[in-house]
Amino acid sequence: MAKNKSKFICQNCGTYASAWLGKCPDCGAWDSFVEEVVNAQKGVSLAKSEAVLLKDISYDKSIRTTSGIAELDLVLGGGIVAGSLVLVGGDPGIGKSTMLLQVANHLAQFKKVLYVSGEESLAQIKLRAERVSEQLNDLLLLAENEIAAVLSVVEKNDPELLIVDSIQTMYDEAISSAPGSVSQVREVTNKLMLLAKRHGVVVFIIGHVTKSGAIAGPKVLEHMVDTVLYFEGANRSVYRMLRAVKNRFGSTNEIGVFEMRSRGLVGVENPSKIFIDNKPKGASGSVVTACVEGTRPLLIEVQALTSVSNYASPRRLAVGVEYNRLTFLIAVLEKIVGMALGSVDVYVNLVGGVNVGEPALDLAIVAAIASSYRNKVIAEDVIIFGEVGLTGEVRGISNAEKRVNEAVKMGYRKIILPAINTADINCTTGIKLIGVKRIEETFDQIWA
Ligand code: TYD
Ligand code: MG
Repeated sequence: MAKNKSKFICQNCGTYASAWLGKCPDCGAWDSFVEEVVNAQKGVSLAKSEAVLLKDISYDKSIRTTSGIAELDLVLGGGIVAGSLVLVGGDPGIGKSTMLLQVANHLAQFKKVLYVSGEESLAQIKLRAERVSEQLNDLLLLAENEIAAVLSVVEKNDPELLIVDSIQTMYDEAISSAPGSVSQVREVTNKLMLLAKRHGVVVFIIGHVTKSGAIAGPKVLEHMVDTVLYFEGANRSVYRMLRAVKNRFGSTNEIGVFEMRSRGLVGVENPSKIFIDNKPKGASGSVVTACVEGTRPLLIEVQALTSVSNYASPRRLAVGVEYNRLTFLIAVLEKIVGMALGSVDVYVNLVGGVNVGEPALDLAIVAAIASSYRNKVIAEDVIIFGEVGLTGEVRGISNAEKRVNEAVKMGYRKIILPAINTADINCTTGIKLIGVKRIEETFDQIWA
């Protein structure tokens, strides 16, 4: 008979060991190994599975349904795909339960939907539902933590959509470790995956995020699901960004923008407006840039502050921008433009709590730093974008026309962009398009 074995599993990365270790050899985490009893594997099963020819496979073309929230549909790649397993991660209190309850209640009008909560009581869920929806539809609720019990309710009610809030509160009785541990999360997710794949149920799983920003517990979870969405938002800001970091059925660059109101989450139709609305007038160190996230252009205000340093090595602080990128741009400004930044602290911030990895932001960052350093204001109607190289050259970027159109729509008239991209732009009526090849030239144009 097969024996139960115990192994030690790193709670951070999922590595196995046969004995307890103080430090994980894989990810370097300390004191992360936990003993877990695993049922011995059965032999390879000889189930009657058959291979099928690719060209013979048929599927329903209308497999996507709208979630009722346009921004969520956008991030999912055009709606919810039948039989998909979606993980929604984010900090506590960011709005995961709120969003999925809104989706569940909306879809309950047309489908059978089951919302399982391991965190809140039925009364608490009802209170929230009353707060966020105009009418309560026939939504099935269950407050349960044990996965077998959840699955038997699923079997009885046969829902088309299942929401599990949250994966860290669910457990499988067959496994001895605590809910939220790697084995539990993996086992429960596995069961939900089978439900999705074999029975075509759409499953949304909510997952909490640790301080470092990963889904608590394991990376293994991300490998198992079809789609991973992250909710992000700056502290105390009412705006939330939903981003796909993995999507088997769509692009991973799309972002959805939401506002948390007193009656739930509402999609923001014109995100550019919210990011530049409160831009200070006549202040140095501030400029607007256009980035493209997925298919969507977004105008963002970049702010920089330079001040004489009191430290032996001056401070560099980047919020929303990669730190290494900032130090690299500062080095270019020192060497190429001759700014003496070696003795000043430099702070750079993207307003509104956005995170942008795009290099097209570079030129706006150097312009904002130069504006603060020289204490010269950049005119209100100027928008700047372009990548900066190590020799101070301004390099071309993608989607130039999209950025220009968005800028024009939002009322900008003077657009400074890489010279090579000016050829991409067709509509130039009423705007001044300035192509630049180097950063020195950019500054001459800004303060002409
Ligand atoms: P919640 O969805 O519970 O977060 P999560 O499930 O990600 O932990 O969001 C709770 C927060 O949202 C809480 O701080 C209150 C706020 N909120 C509103 O501002 N408006 C609302 O209509 C609701 C339901 C919550
Ligand atoms: Mg919640």
